[in-house]
Amino acid sequence: MSETYQICDCRRVTNTQIEEAVKNGANTFDKLQAATHVGTGCGGCIMDAIKVFKEARAKYLV
Ligand code: FES
Repeated sequence: MSETYQICDCRRVTNTQIEEAVKNGANTFDKLQAATHVGTGCGGCIMDAIKVFKEARAKYLV
């Protein structure tokens, strides 16, 4: 079980929410943003969000 931390301060999105969205079928970053709104504010979290997204995709979508 990994620790939960906030990735996106603007939209209050955590790494766990990103992982859940990926598990629920968000296999592109666009779909992830549609599901969570991560990175749709200032955009400052995009690099971190992409990193977590890629890790989650590798983990859950084989
Ligand atoms: S911190 Fe994510 S959009 Fe601003």
